[in-house]
Amino acid sequence: MSDWSAIEALPSPKLVELFEQDPDRLARFCVDLSGLHFDFSKTHLTADAVAAFLALADARGLAARRDALFAGEHVNVTEDRPVTHTEERGEGNAEDIAVARRFHERERALIDAIEAGALGPVRHILHVGIGGSALGPNLLVDALGRDDRRYDVAIVSNIDGVALEDVFARFDPAATLLVVASKTFTTTETMTNAASVLAWMTEHGVDDPYGRVIALTAAMDKAIEWGVDETRVLPFAEGVGGRYSLWSSIGFPAAIGLGWDRFEELLEGAAEMDRHFRLTPLDRNAPVLAAFADLYYTQVRKAETRAPFAYDERLRLLPPYLQQLEMESNGKGVTLDGRPVGRPTAAIAWGGVGTDAQHAVFQLLHQGTHLVPVEFIAVIEAGDTLAEDHHRQLLLNAFAQGAALMKGKQADDPARSYEGNRPSSTILLDRLDARTLGALIAFYEHRVFVNGTLLQINSFDQFGVELGKEMAKAAAKGGGDFDPSTTDLIRRAGLN
Ligand code: F6P
Repeated sequence: MSDWSAIEALPSPKLVELFEQDPDRLARFCVDLSGLHFDFSKTHLTADAVAAFLALADARGLAARRDALFAGEHVNVTEDRPVTHTEERGEGNAEDIAVARRFHERERALIDAIEAGALGPVRHILHVGIGGSALGPNLLVDALGRDDRRYDVAIVSNIDGVALEDVFARFDPAATLLVVASKTFTTTETMTNAASVLAWMTEHGVDDPYGRVIALTAAMDKAIEWGVDETRVLPFAEGVGGRYSLWSSIGFPAAIGLGWDRFEELLEGAAEMDRHFRLTPLDRNAPVLAAFADLYYTQVRKAETRAPFAYDERLRLLPPYLQQLEMESNGKGVTLDGRPVGRPTAAIAWGGVGTDAQHAVFQLLHQGTHLVPVEFIAVIEAGDTLAEDHHRQLLLNAFAQGAALMKGKQADDPARSYEGNRPSSTILLDRLDARTLGALIAFYEHRVFVNGTLLQINSFDQFGVELGKEMAKAAAKGGGDFDPSTTDLIRRAGLN
């Protein structure tokens, strides 16, 4: 019998019946920790399902692997290195924590110097980076920087020059700080964008454009070689993966834009989630239960996607952030020892913002033929101060959607019937602040790790992105061995 057979044999109960059968269901499938409430009761998890997943977790050595992660062991086996993003928030291996602290102190000192005017006037921060070097900081600044923007921050990722020109149109080159964020300091998009920002500064008479550059990188030597003064390079450890890097110097726009104290609150919120993940029994552990539900839907019910919806405008960048975190981490086809994984891995993460999404894609969720586990993320304390009851309606919409997906409705007309029994989970934050956001993001990181561990895949490499990059580079040099279709496209666009 495979380790999965007990899970694959799980029945497909009706959600409403699960509530009828178990008066303790709500308590059993809700988890609370400082300012965050997780409600998994509208998923198909049952006591039997949890027991089957716990047996699998045992067979996969989840607890030991979690300890290995926090101990700084080389859990990223394909790259033979530790995974040290938790050390950025002070949890895990003591030596790696000390390194992260030193780097944070260096960052803080540079921020103090900038605020004291050491680099001249700074009103605008233009951060160029892509993937993990943009999505995380962008989420932080957008979610937390609304009320208290100390600087005008723009984060540009796309190599399409239109993105930069939009910023050039509103930023003053003489008051702009260029922040080049790249773990490797080789990424084509970022280096091209950085070069264009320097050219724009030069064209507009900035004396020493390189003097206004900060580099955020794990490749200090490359940044220095590129022209950044060593004192303005903010390093982070190689063990911090790109999509796990917002806690490191990659979070610079948030650290300077929101202030260091709030950045530290973010780290502390994440550390609280780390401790919860590390110390709470698996059947009361929020990231673990969330991963069990994920795996129930991908492995048993063959759901190909999952859809987080942020019912809070401030969290509108959470779904795209999660897309990279989940799909780059667990979109894998081989196990840790290189065998075909032989089963579905990461669900395709999509989603959006409520209530907008209700008027665009929810039709499919309620009546379409795909099973899509939905996740509602909402915040009790309103972000707005308008007199009308916007926030009340926003929250009630989120909750009503979850109820409707589960309950369904029978009508004489099939076109007007809803079969119901469609799963959702809800994450409810008391308020959105640096601490709760930190905990929320760390929750997702650990959930990804549990999914990866039970699937026996490496959640920390991303070799799948390399081939397309190599081919684009070869084409840019006029080479590359392309098929007739691609050769024709290159010719038509006049690029050969
Ligand atoms: O191409 C994917 C990727 O390597 C991501 O993993 C990473 O977040 C992004 O590119 C940017 O990489 P870098 O920070 O090295 O520029």
